[in-house]
Amino acid sequence: MSIQISDKFTKNISSPETCKAVSETLTALAHSAIEISHLCALGPLQSGFGALAGSENSDGDAQKALDVRTDEIITAALMNAPVAYYASEEQDDIMTLDSGKPLAVASDPLDGSSNIDTNVSIGTIFSIFPAATTAHDSFFRKGSEQLVGGFFVYGPQTSLVITSGKGTELYVLDRTDNVFKLAIAKIVISKDANEYAINASNFQSWYPPIRNYIEDCQMGAAGPLQKKQNMRWIGSLVADANRILMRGGIFLYPSDTRPGYGDGRLRLLYEANPVAFIIEQAGGMATDGENRILDKPLNTLHERVPFVFGSTHPVSQVKTYF
Ligand code: F6P
Ligand code: MN
Repeated sequence: MSIQISDKFTKNISSPETCKAVSETLTALAHSAIEISHLCALGPLQSGFGALAGSENSDGDAQKALDVRTDEIITAALMNAPVAYYASEEQDDIMTLDSGKPLAVASDPLDGSSNIDTNVSIGTIFSIFPAATTAHDSFFRKGSEQLVGGFFVYGPQTSLVITSGKGTELYVLDRTDNVFKLAIAKIVISKDANEYAINASNFQSWYPPIRNYIEDCQMGAAGPLQKKQNMRWIGSLVADANRILMRGGIFLYPSDTRPGYGDGRLRLLYEANPVAFIIEQAGGMATDGENRILDKPLNTLHERVPFVFGSTHPVSQVKTYF
């Protein structure tokens, strides 16, 4: 056993067969996360750590050796789980594992990989859907159809944030017996918070609504937001999302005028959807700036989406700038 899943989490999944399949899949993912967290913790003690793999992923990002390795670990784990289809950031197409199985899993195996060699938190994001009759239909649907959204963080704690649609829970890996244990049964994001996260180096490329909002944040108490706004940007989505779950705030990765950033940077299927599910279930909001992320149908496997999430008050405020 690698995770003590709470009764509340499993009770929310109505069919006993699906519930069993989800538990087995989470156990497999938790095993993978323990292995990946060991690799992350070894850091430069392993040769090639943080090195480029010499290849690019489906989206043109340079792959690091650890991106490729984590994808292999997760693929191998899911092959022994009740999973029919696997969609990964690191692979161009959907992998069929066993079409007779009941679940489909999408994953960003190593989120924040530009932080690997800096000893900053990185993670694994995943989304579980019921398998449809085809590989395509299993993923080309709205995020509101997810059974489970989750992410692991490999940081000072190795943790798992997860939802099956009845609240958001936090598990922490207890290294004494290598088991993920429930640490917070119900995460609640504060409705308001005066902290924003954005890669401000893109200021010149933002469209007016985001530019105006961030300028107002920078004005602090003297501006229309009437309060000093603190700023944090870790550059690993999982770590920024985890901070917002713990103490509120807003995250923005908007679309901008740079080539290739017309829909922002983050991917709908395996980044925005699971994080949006988790944030909403913790009482927060997740949009593309204006509209709810979980209502968006998927048009291409690696589709990007502008992503704004966090405490309800600032996220609703951003809408008014559009
Ligand atoms: O996976 C994409 C990602 O690494 C996220 O974890 C992070 O939020 C974002 O990209 C950082 O983007 P940038 O390098 O543009 O700040
Ligand atoms: Mn990522």
